[in-house]
Amino acid sequence: MGEKTRTIATIVGARPQFIKAAPVSRALAGTFHEVMIHTGQHYDYGMSEVFFEEMEMRPPDFNLGIGGGSHAEQTGKMLIEIEEVLDSLKPDYVLVYGDTNSTLAGALAAAKAQIPLAHVEAGLRSYNRTMPEEINRVLTDHVSTLLFCPTDRAVQNLLKEGITNGVHRVGDVMYDALLHNLALARKHSHILRSLGVKKGEYALATVHRAANTDDHARLTSILEALGSLSKPVIFPVHPRTRKIIGEMGLAVSQNVKLIEPLGAFDVLVLQENADCILTDSGGMQKEAYLLGVRCITLREETEWVETVEAGWNRLAGVDKNAIRAAFENWHPSGERPALYGDGQAAGEICEILARQLR
Ligand code: UD1
Repeated sequence: MGEKTRTIATIVGARPQFIKAAPVSRALAGTFHEVMIHTGQHYDYGMSEVFFEEMEMRPPDFNLGIGGGSHAEQTGKMLIEIEEVLDSLKPDYVLVYGDTNSTLAGALAAAKAQIPLAHVEAGLRSYNRTMPEEINRVLTDHVSTLLFCPTDRAVQNLLKEGITNGVHRVGDVMYDALLHNLALARKHSHILRSLGVKKGEYALATVHRAANTDDHARLTSILEALGSLSKPVIFPVHPRTRKIIGEMGLAVSQNVKLIEPLGAFDVLVLQENADCILTDSGGMQKEAYLLGVRCITLREETEWVETVEAGWNRLAGVDKNAIRAAFENWHPSGERPALYGDGQAAGEICEILARQLR
């Protein structure tokens, strides 16, 4: 049977997954029939559709419309709906990304239906089981047939859990995405002008992790720290964070400019030109590193330990003094080794899948 007759069912649902899936879909296009299933976990135009447009991806073949709700409710509904789609499609492989509830639902549905499962961004660990993402990653890795690791550390993490079969260190598809999107972003984005900011003269902040948004004291501390920095802070606000800031009636300093979530191009341009990125996002820690921008991580631990070890990422937690001290006094300038591969991860993933299905 020709490979083109083989079907890969890709499951995505949350913002970073659209960005990661784009380079892989481009790579798969010549070889496989890919069917894209969007769970609907992210549903606002600015959290979902804009990425499909910018990445020039065709709209998902299925949109399950399952956004909001508790973790169990969301994951459970996804599991039921994904099973139905997989039943009708009978794909040769299921492909999932990262560590969201959509990842776990896709992984479980595939495993239960005995369809081989490939996990992109396998082997990441924060070793903090209070994070929903950590549970999602661990469980997904343990039912995966192919585990595509972005880093050497990820391979070692899997080894510690006894997972060695099907493990491939392919590099990080986010690097592939960044290389592809940066040139387009520089051409198309006018965000610096529209916000009235210049290179190196502002900080960029994002906060969306449950541990930071759902805890009044932590979110207050972060907002106070951002408000005390010596440069203006641009803060594109995730819907969950905006809701909670409103509900809790938290004060936001004039120094902090809250804006709507941005598309991939605007975010890249804002990242590339920022003096510093302050974030609890995993993807932005890596993008900061790849772009040579210092990153202050608003968490106590990270899955992307290499960025810290290389000296370009500081774990400041939510302590106001630690955040402020890092921002005002710490200016890394050392080497940035190629931790995330060579930007060809998507092609390697496609080749490995093709070998498996030959
Ligand atoms: C999810 C992932 C997280 C990932 C993040 C990327 C889980 C457990 N977490 O977190 O790992 O880093 O996506 O952004 O899967 N909402 C809207 N509009 C939207 C999307 C969300 O209003 O387009 C609201 C939801 O209704 C919900 C809240 O934001 O109340 C949180 O959304 P949810 O998808 O549950 O988790 P994220 O915080 O986005």
